[in-house]
Amino acid sequence: MVKVLVIGSGGREHAMVRKLAQDQKRSGRSLELFAAPGNPGIEALATCVAIGAEDVQGLLHFAKSEGIDLTVVGPEAPLAMGIVDLFEAEGLRIFGPNQKAAQIEASKAFTRNIAELAGVPSPAYRVFTDHDEALLYLHSLAGPWVIKADGLAAGKGVTVTDDLLEAETALAQIMKDKAFGEAGNQVVIEEFLQGEEISVLALVDESGFQLFPAIQDHKQVGEGDTGPNTGGMGTFSPVPVATKGVMDKVRDEIFGRMTRQLKAQGISYRGVLFAGLMIKEEQPYLIEFNVRFGDPETQVGLELLETDLLLAMEAVLDDRISEVSLDFSSDAAVCVVLAAGGYPGSYHKGDPITGLDELSGAYALHAGTAKNPAGQMVTNGGRVLGVVARGATLDEARAQAYHAIEGINFKGKIYRRDIGARHRGVIS
Ligand SMILES: Nc1ncnc2c1ncn2[C@@H]1O[C@H](COP(=O)(O)OP(=O)(O)O)[C@@H](O)[C@H]1O
Ligand SMILES: [Mg+2]
Repeated sequence: MVKVLVIGSGGREHAMVRKLAQDQKRSGRSLELFAAPGNPGIEALATCVAIGAEDVQGLLHFAKSEGIDLTVVGPEAPLAMGIVDLFEAEGLRIFGPNQKAAQIEASKAFTRNIAELAGVPSPAYRVFTDHDEALLYLHSLAGPWVIKADGLAAGKGVTVTDDLLEAETALAQIMKDKAFGEAGNQVVIEEFLQGEEISVLALVDESGFQLFPAIQDHKQVGEGDTGPNTGGMGTFSPVPVATKGVMDKVRDEIFGRMTRQLKAQGISYRGVLFAGLMIKEEQPYLIEFNVRFGDPETQVGLELLETDLLLAMEAVLDDRISEVSLDFSSDAAVCVVLAAGGYPGSYHKGDPITGLDELSGAYALHAGTAKNPAGQMVTNGGRVLGVVARGATLDEARAQAYHAIEGINFKGKIYRRDIGARHRGVIS
């Protein structure tokens, strides 16, 4: 019996727990799954314990007292807080990068610098600690402008705009108003890159790395990529722009160069390294790295992963990832996010959700749900559910997902009908 604890409470964590639960049926290896704090969807597959993802001492205490064999960290915050160092110091196995390596997500300036030394194709950039100097630099550039708070800002620290006033305001909010606290002690101003954005996840250890297929996210709330940015309204794979030639460059010029440079700087990396990339004329450029599975990229990536997830994570912990092959289905997969009306602005919570038990040809991963005192499933977040389906083609996967979505209802349900349709006609 292997006891596995997954830290986090979103759709990403539900996808991980689901994959772990499914793999054990195939492998015959028996797992006991825990999640902290988990969510009502995860509850059906794992024991949820009421410890927050950022209560690292509470998590350590639980892992020790429960005799957890492996802890898997979902979100970035506990990684940046050093949960991996803490667990390892106590002799516990934990999947994720240590605090030093987690700086790759927690400081955009740190990462731009390493990427530059590594020769990773990247936009031109400059780092500022002084507002007035940053403003002067901003004024020397032609738009559009890209302004980034250096630190973790829950996805809200970046402004991309062709309106100079908006750029100036963003800079002042970060550096003067400290809208993101210490995350705004430094600011990165970088060259705007026009292109198509993809996400590539990799499992990385000291022996090497293995890539997932490219996944594309739809960040804007409205169909046709309109309206404000969100945490992600849906994902799909395969991605037509990620040709073999592009993926060869992603392997060699992005991950190859970066992992070599990390080693040279004495930063040991074990875990998921997630690259946000802009593809421009068949050339990938680094937008940012994250140090954990993406949400909602994971929902699609794990649907297509055929390799046993626990074995793959154990390989990373033992620095054997270069000897393991990650196998992926040649199918297409989509994840369509169902959100609460108003999201990403203010939205209502507590609306009953119906139809979850009757899904066929697709499944729903919980992101923002809760059970009310009457035991009813209700909405409890902006992104409520991610509906995942697969098919031989993207259109087949889409058809499955959208058919299932018709049966799931809650007041104010919104979703994009064009997830994975950006390339209709290109994909047969
Ligand atoms: N240099 C750039 N050129 C064009 N668009 C960019 C650039 N940097 C970031 N973006 C856009 O802004 C989004 C958020 O930036 P990112 O660095 O990924 O920050 P975070 O995810 O931490 O908010 C990206 O997904 C991309 O769409
Ligand atoms: Mg990003």
